[in-house]
Amino acid sequence: MKTQVGIIGAGPAGLMLAQVLRQHGIDSVILEQRSEDYVLSRIRAGVLEHPAVEFLHAMGAGERLAKEGMPHEGIDMLFRGEKRRIDFPSLTGGKKVTVYGQQEVVKDLIRLKKEFDGQILFEAENVAIHGAESDSPSLSFIYGGEQKTLACDFIAGCDGFHGVARQSIPEAKLKLFEKVYPFAWLGILADAAPAQDELIYSRHDNGFALFSMRSPEVTRLYLQCDPEENLDEWPDSRVWDELHRRLEAKDGFRVNEGRITRKDVTPMRSFVCETMRHGRLFLAGDAAHIVPPTGAKGLNLAAGDVKLLSDALAVYFKSGDTTQLDGYEALALKRIWAAQRFSWFMTRLLHKDPGANAFDEEVQFADLDYFTGTEAGRRTIAENYVGLPFGWTGAA
Ligand code: FAD
Ligand code: PHB
Repeated sequence: MKTQVGIIGAGPAGLMLAQVLRQHGIDSVILEQRSEDYVLSRIRAGVLEHPAVEFLHAMGAGERLAKEGMPHEGIDMLFRGEKRRIDFPSLTGGKKVTVYGQQEVVKDLIRLKKEFDGQILFEAENVAIHGAESDSPSLSFIYGGEQKTLACDFIAGCDGFHGVARQSIPEAKLKLFEKVYPFAWLGILADAAPAQDELIYSRHDNGFALFSMRSPEVTRLYLQCDPEENLDEWPDSRVWDELHRRLEAKDGFRVNEGRITRKDVTPMRSFVCETMRHGRLFLAGDAAHIVPPTGAKGLNLAAGDVKLLSDALAVYFKSGDTTQLDGYEALALKRIWAAQRFSWFMTRLLHKDPGANAFDEEVQFADLDYFTGTEAGRRTIAENYVGLPFGWTGAA
């Protein structure tokens, strides 16, 4: 087997990359270790930034997104019982975000790849990278019980945080940064109509809570919890009690209850692998960076990486010019660190830190007051939330 770009992972990064490469006339094969059903049922991100929505439209994956995606022009921040709204269009020159589940993006892109050339191999086991530093790298794997080899011009490591791509870069070459938080999110999906149209991020003395949604019939909710939280200790009645408590607001807002169809715990981590290239292997998405979900940036960062990497590969295959490929890592890292900063800021602003003292907490409330009560503060949040432009080179 042979292809121009061998892609490891059929998450949003790998699937978007395949779709954009196809637009440039570059062929690719995706190797995914999980089954198609598993990939399609993974409930994760929900918020698409303005540039990510534009990118999905430009790559020809925007048809259902345009019909079923829910445009959101603002978010509420709730603390001490008071909701304060951040209005995106008036603060960002007309931009907004779109609520559209990550699994819907994945579903649309899998369909496109299957219809185009079918080169997406689910349940590919033991994927290994060979000769990344040579001019003829390859991927070995087991498919349908048989050992296979895929010769490639380039390899894209789009295999998420636990994948093989980053792990196959020599340790001495890896430049890593990490921060682990002393809390996690307990997330639920409920068959209940969202009780309001926009998201609510709440800082409460019992811990952070987030009100979000997936459709006019499905509410997505999160509660700050312990990283070691035992889900057995969270019967549905306790989850609802705590959600009502943490999301109660003076305007009378109350979450609608419904049948809980999912319950999961997500740990919180900030992580950057600055080594996004090793010879002909390039990393994109969660393989190279993780953000805590408070800023809704993970999927969107993957889209930003894919835009830069696909542009660079297109230039190379057209002209042999490697300048953009050589510059991929440095340019991608500018936007990655900006999103890391924002995700860390939103996390710190909104969670109850078990290690904080009374002084720290009053500073946190002063921050909440400033960032939601002044135009300068609101603009800072709005500009970052709707997404800095792809190819962001820093503020200077
Ligand atoms: P992944 O989605 O992890 O995909 C990697 C793929 O590679 C997977 O399919 C995996 O099975 C496959 N793979 C792994 N190892 C191998 C291997 N060895 N061989 C072959 N295949 C392999 N982001 C946002 O932007 N907005 C949000 O609102 C948001 N909310 C979130 C809420 C939660 C609860 C969670 C957990 C995440 C959230 N995120 C959010 C983050 C977002 O889901 C990720 O950033 C996104 O999935 C990254 O896409 P990816 O393609 O890089 O990686
Ligand atoms: C979600 O709907 O899953 C969601 C929304 C906003 C976030 C994180 C997750 O910040």
